[in-house]
Amino acid sequence: MCGIVGYAGGRDAQPILIDCLRRLEYRGYDSSGIAVVGDGLHVHKSKGEISALEETMPTMHGHVGIAHTRWATQGKPTTENAHPFADCSSKLAVVHNGIISNFMDLKDALVAEGHVFSSETDTEVFAHLVESELKGDLMEAVRAALKRIEGTYAFAVVSADGAEVVAARDESPLVIGIGDGENFLASDVTALLKYTDRMVYMMDGEVVRLTKDSVTILDREGKKVERQPQKISWNLEDAEKGGYPHFMLKEIFEQPNAIHESLLGRVETLDPEPFFQTGAFTSVKIVACGTSYHAGLAGKYIIEELAKVPTTVQISSEYRYSSVSRENPLIVLVTQSGETLDTIAAAREARKRGHKTVAIANVMGSAITREVDHVIYTRAGPEIGVAATKTFTTQIVAMYLLAMDLATQSRVMGAQARRSMVGQLRNLPRAVQDVLNKADVVEALAKKYSGVKDMYFIGRNINYPMALEGALKTKEISYIHGEGFPAGELKHGPLALISKESPVVAIAIKDHTYEKMLGNISEVTARGSPVIAIGYEGDTELGKYADEVLTVREVPPIFSPVPVIVTLQLWSYYLARERGCPVDKPRNIAKTVTVE
Ligand code: F6R
Repeated sequence: MCGIVGYAGGRDAQPILIDCLRRLEYRGYDSSGIAVVGDGLHVHKSKGEISALEETMPTMHGHVGIAHTRWATQGKPTTENAHPFADCSSKLAVVHNGIISNFMDLKDALVAEGHVFSSETDTEVFAHLVESELKGDLMEAVRAALKRIEGTYAFAVVSADGAEVVAARDESPLVIGIGDGENFLASDVTALLKYTDRMVYMMDGEVVRLTKDSVTILDREGKKVERQPQKISWNLEDAEKGGYPHFMLKEIFEQPNAIHESLLGRVETLDPEPFFQTGAFTSVKIVACGTSYHAGLAGKYIIEELAKVPTTVQISSEYRYSSVSRENPLIVLVTQSGETLDTIAAAREARKRGHKTVAIANVMGSAITREVDHVIYTRAGPEIGVAATKTFTTQIVAMYLLAMDLATQSRVMGAQARRSMVGQLRNLPRAVQDVLNKADVVEALAKKYSGVKDMYFIGRNINYPMALEGALKTKEISYIHGEGFPAGELKHGPLALISKESPVVAIAIKDHTYEKMLGNISEVTARGSPVIAIGYEGDTELGKYADEVLTVREVPPIFSPVPVIVTLQLWSYYLARERGCPVDKPRNIAKTVTVE
């Protein structure tokens, strides 16, 4: 996730672009840059937050320009990799939000034609593509270049020779702000509200030419699109959260797209290059804290089922002080921030012990990425709410990818099985969207149970970690005491806690443990405790056992944690909201834990 802005008008573009860009900093903040068209094309970029750009940039005069704040997905967060990118002639500048999945092939072809590249990014390819297509009309050159691109994008392009901004979108957001004698462009309305409340939302496949006095939109086929501006009545704070009352809810709703981005370019072919060339492993150890530890627990089930490699999971602070064993496992460190001290220390310890290390991280260039042999990025975009949501589901997606990788290398998974996995993975965003479409049902139920002091969560097999994660989310943001158990363990102690006052959330999807789960639900209801069950759509049995049933679309059991946990994220969110808790900033908890 990155933020882009554009301006064409009668005022100096530079201060307007920087002001708009600041309001998009939540979309990314590892580097930024600006291009202004005046007497030629002026480009300036800087590593770090937008304040670093402001401190170093010269005054640039000109009435047209673009700017970008970056959240790295391809290439480290350095000044060289910051946007905008110029072509070979330094007459074009390009900013981009999204991922070009075929950029390696395009880059090879462009280099063979003589183009010279200055960065590791996918975006730079587009500057050179437009350059090679440019025959006078910038909009036509952009349209021609887009035909060669695969992936997702919002692009904005300026040329030293023109008083226009040309932009395009496909699956990455882009909105046009209509002013008087000036027009704007941004990744979301937040950036533009200070300047105008009249917005035109661009649709997938559309390209726009923006000048001081005109806005021309063409669809994918080149047909002119007429669309009336909408008047936006949000205030600035509302807009930053995209109209959601909290960042957490916004981030929960971003999950179909986050999962899609995490898969992009990684499951296109049936026999892709493995992520790492280290050969087959006889065992895996996953090391993490908190929510990331729960993703690790899910990873154990996924890796053992798909790759048949024995896997253990350990809390980072415990691994660090554990004794050395004779095993030589692949060590997988899971951390969304990449800055959790306990996990970084565990990575150092693993390397000291001579193990191969892989990190699953969301923040490019974060500390963990310098401590390991290989990184799998989750591409969820910045997460502002303290409670991890979209970073968790994309960590689980990374586990599927890692397991497929291990399975392919050890020849446990054949082409047919891989094809089926890829198909199922591609369906995941839809299964999540289904859950989100029924958020009001979860909300109503959460309201009913929001007054309780204790709540228990049970599940079996791959959904046992989801019970743990549901409990963690609930205690963290609603301050209800929540505990998760493997359902089979209830009778070994926790049943003593069950009472009418403590509802139990039971995950009962139709897998090989389903009948046992029904038995566990009966154990609970027999003691008078209300049961809220989460099961598959079309399950007519579950309602006979549980007091309430929430459903998710039926997917193969190994994929069920994703829609199940989205249901539990909504559940904990609505409990917290009903109880008036500060959802995005729960007491005593920090987003990044850099102490032992
Ligand atoms: C809970 C939560 C924490 C983190 C934990 C590890 O919602 O976010 O439990 O999962 O502090 O953080 P990372 O993944 O950054 O290492």
